[in-house]
Amino acid sequence: MEELISIKDVSYIYNDGKKALQDVNISVGKGEKIAIMGPNGAGKSTLFGLLNGILKPSSGIIKIDKLETVKKNLPKIRRDVGVVFQDSDDQLFNSSVRQEIAYGLLNIGVFGEELNKTIKWALEVVGMEGYEDKSPHNLSGGEKKRIALASVLAMKPKVLVLDEPTASLDPRGVSKLIKLLDYINKKFNITLIFSTHDVDIVPLLADRVYLIDKGKIVLNGSTEEVFDNKEIIRKMDLRLPRVAHLVEILEKDGEVQVDKLPLTIGQARKILKNRSDINV
Ligand SMILES: Nc1ncnc2c1ncn2[C@@H]1O[C@H](COP(=O)(O)OP(=O)(O)OP(=O)(O)O)[C@@H](O)[C@H]1O
Ligand SMILES: [Mg+2]
Repeated sequence: MEELISIKDVSYIYNDGKKALQDVNISVGKGEKIAIMGPNGAGKSTLFGLLNGILKPSSGIIKIDKLETVKKNLPKIRRDVGVVFQDSDDQLFNSSVRQEIAYGLLNIGVFGEELNKTIKWALEVVGMEGYEDKSPHNLSGGEKKRIALASVLAMKPKVLVLDEPTASLDPRGVSKLIKLLDYINKKFNITLIFSTHDVDIVPLLADRVYLIDKGKIVLNGSTEEVFDNKEIIRKMDLRLPRVAHLVEILEKDGEVQVDKLPLTIGQARKILKNRSDINV
């Protein structure tokens, strides 16, 4: 698989001396869906700030599609890397949804009919048609998230970087966003990197997971491989998906026997279906 993002031996120290990232190595292939999972303060947002050059690594090298994140490459890199911030209020600053989405496009020279078409397309993808004239500030948390996503998507980035994308969403909003991100990944072949401490969503969206704690990558592998390391996950103040925890308890009680804990309801259903005394 062709590499899109290469993070090599990267450390980041804030001005006050806080070592937020230490010797981080990450490699992401084109079209992959990657979860960066870690507790509060692990360094996830710092890592994302480095990806589009908002922050400069204290040491190490970051490359996006073979281009290093140094000043002369930043205009190209900022088009290729679309970041959806943790807090939508940090992202939305225009007085209408239309202007919000037009802003980045105008900056890269998209005008007229092409501009209108792209705005319409981005709003359709996120399911927010008809909101063009609304002020982003008068939208709900979940709606703001969708507009922020539309404004980034409109730039047709190679990779979408989403910092805690589900944090402000209600349960239906979460499942709609997961479907939407999966659709965007498949339909437009846009690579996804998202950070989260919501362990239940990770198996639904990620191909691979990097576990980060206190600025260091603790573990990486396929979603199944990473969730196999129960002790490490629990030591990091995270947990297993609830459905995995339930089956773990049932197994301890001698109620079921599994080779691998299920990570999603779909997987759990298959296991429980084999039990003739349980109707699922
Ligand atoms: N501007 C800053 N100056 C100094 N230290 C900072 C700054 N921003 C973040 N930090 C520190 O760096 C560490 C990593 O912070 P970061 O925001 O990257 O964590 P995070 O994994 O995104 O956490 P959360 O899940 O709470 O969003 C934390 O200890 C934080 O206190
Ligand atoms: Mg954060």
